[in-house]
Amino acid sequence: MSSTRWLRRSGPPRLEFGADYNPDQWPREVWDDDVRHMREAGVTIVSLAIFSWARIEPADGEFDFAWLDDAMDLLHANGILVDLATATASPPPWLAAAHPEILPVDRVGNTISPGGRQHWRPTSPVFRRYALRLVRALAERYRDHPALAAWHVNNELGCHNVHDYSDDAARAFRSWLRIRYETIEALNDAWATAFWSQRYTSWAEILPPRLAATFPNPGQQLDFKRFSSDALKDYLIAERDVLREITPEVPVTTNFMVMGEQSSMNYADWAAEVDFVANDHYRQRGVRSADELSFSANLTGNIAGGRPWFLMEHSTSAVNWQPVNLPKRPGELERDSLLHVAHGADAVCFFQWRQSRGGAEKYHSAMLPHAGPDSDLFRSVVALGSRLHELAPLAGTPRTRARAAIVFDWQSWWVAELDSHPTNRLRYRREAFDWYLAFLDLGIRADVVPLDTDLSGYELVIAPILHVVPAALTTRLTTYVDSGGHLVTTYFSGIVDENDHVWLGGYPGALRDLLGIRIEEFAPLPDDGRAELDNGLTGSLWTDRIDLTATDVEVLATYKSGDVAGRPAVTRRPVGAGSASYVSTRLGPEGLRVLLADLAARAGVTSDLPDDLRGRVELTRRGGFQFVINRTDEPVDISTLSPAHPVLAARGVAVLS
Ligand code: GAL
Repeated sequence: MSSTRWLRRSGPPRLEFGADYNPDQWPREVWDDDVRHMREAGVTIVSLAIFSWARIEPADGEFDFAWLDDAMDLLHANGILVDLATATASPPPWLAAAHPEILPVDRVGNTISPGGRQHWRPTSPVFRRYALRLVRALAERYRDHPALAAWHVNNELGCHNVHDYSDDAARAFRSWLRIRYETIEALNDAWATAFWSQRYTSWAEILPPRLAATFPNPGQQLDFKRFSSDALKDYLIAERDVLREITPEVPVTTNFMVMGEQSSMNYADWAAEVDFVANDHYRQRGVRSADELSFSANLTGNIAGGRPWFLMEHSTSAVNWQPVNLPKRPGELERDSLLHVAHGADAVCFFQWRQSRGGAEKYHSAMLPHAGPDSDLFRSVVALGSRLHELAPLAGTPRTRARAAIVFDWQSWWVAELDSHPTNRLRYRREAFDWYLAFLDLGIRADVVPLDTDLSGYELVIAPILHVVPAALTTRLTTYVDSGGHLVTTYFSGIVDENDHVWLGGYPGALRDLLGIRIEEFAPLPDDGRAELDNGLTGSLWTDRIDLTATDVEVLATYKSGDVAGRPAVTRRPVGAGSASYVSTRLGPEGLRVLLADLAARAGVTSDLPDDLRGRVELTRRGGFQFVINRTDEPVDISTLSPAHPVLAARGVAVLS
């Protein structure tokens, strides 16, 4: 959990509004125009100098702060705060030329060349020496600058360089393993190296999982994922500690990427290292991407422990890095922004302030587009600024906890999607998101929470594909259910311990007793395979050969077709005042909506919305306010909820007090 520190600033609470600001891409005279329009838009904060290393340190050890002093002073004179980056995200050409040993290496052995950004090894001692020198120089220069409100470590740590297979990485991986296992015997046991003659006799023999003849050892793969997340976290801590030494009163953050299939960084584990959580989110084209935004924002808010967090980046309109980049539709800029606020964000910021003329991101939207201030986009930005200004009373308020939760676990995400499994089609986050969609469609609020969250306040907990279940987790979940909680889990859950070793005696070993079922063999489905259930639903991806082992297990649905016909598909076992349910196939959002309606009703968890609005709007509660978010592309009559606001525009958001 992150601590409670927020920006260093005075004045009444407010929601912050701004963007990445890259004045070093523009002639000086443009800067005055920038700040004038920032004031017009109500910008309160900018993230400065994120990619400015080459400008700040044009040659080894020679620093040029004049331009940055000027930018800091100008922003301050205009009442704009600075989230000052440590500028370490993109090492300058002179550094890569002098020290090519900082460059990452991929699993095949190719060295990543400079020319893009983030071409540095997280474990390189040489990179760290240069980067921390820069961090120290910046901290000493700006420690007392009145514009300095927060430090922004690097940028999106791990965006391009999380998995480095270099010799530096190999050395650091070995040190990490020695701490984790202490003895080579313990490592051999954890990695099951008796298999395929992989037994290690010394630490020096161990490598990252580089290109191998076939599936690399799963324990090695899993620990490399853990190590890679930890290596970046360690780097974050190294920068943070320099900053804390010099400016203990200035909060430190870094922008996470809780979005889409970005699985490599275990942010639930990183959150304790920053003073407040910040996140970047970009909508990906595809089904229900606004709902995916809600899922990510919801999870971010819970990673932040329910405390306010900072939306560091999203886009005003199109991005430039998808195959086809569509502009946002009217209303989406504001709806996307307020969805984050609905889930606890106290700052709404964008990449970037002024759209670039050159460089790789010149077709990425910004607050001030190529067309200039006389544009619909800039007018929408100004309107958003004033809406956020009106919403100042929300600042600092906590979100109201939901009665239901979806548990999200990085270890299960990593392990369930490793290779050499019953199917390589399983997608952990998609299953979790399907459940979230089912909640949204039923109009039932649900929190998306990291696994270590105290679940006792939730009446209904969904743990999709909870694949990794160490013994202590079995105890925790059993206690939760015994105390009256309703737990629902799915296929491929409870299968392995923390070393990815299968729990024996029949699946789902770790949850077998709690669920009262036993599975002798998995029965995944081919891509076109479907499993009909007797309740009219259809499963895909997976089925199980379930036997009931407890007499009190109720079968909620039975397979009608295929090799598992006649066997239970969905089970529910009453335990104490609670229950433990199991869903053995992928039902998708539509099927889950039907099933969840039943499971939620049995758990006594209901929608806060009137019947006519369920599914059409998302409702969240924060402080004393309700956010009503139109999920559709049509106006929605919300008079049953709020007679004072009879119609919610397409993609609109009403904030009711
Ligand atoms: C982020 C990054 C920004 C910008 C943006 C474009 O990943 O932090 O610098 O590249 O994406 O969408």
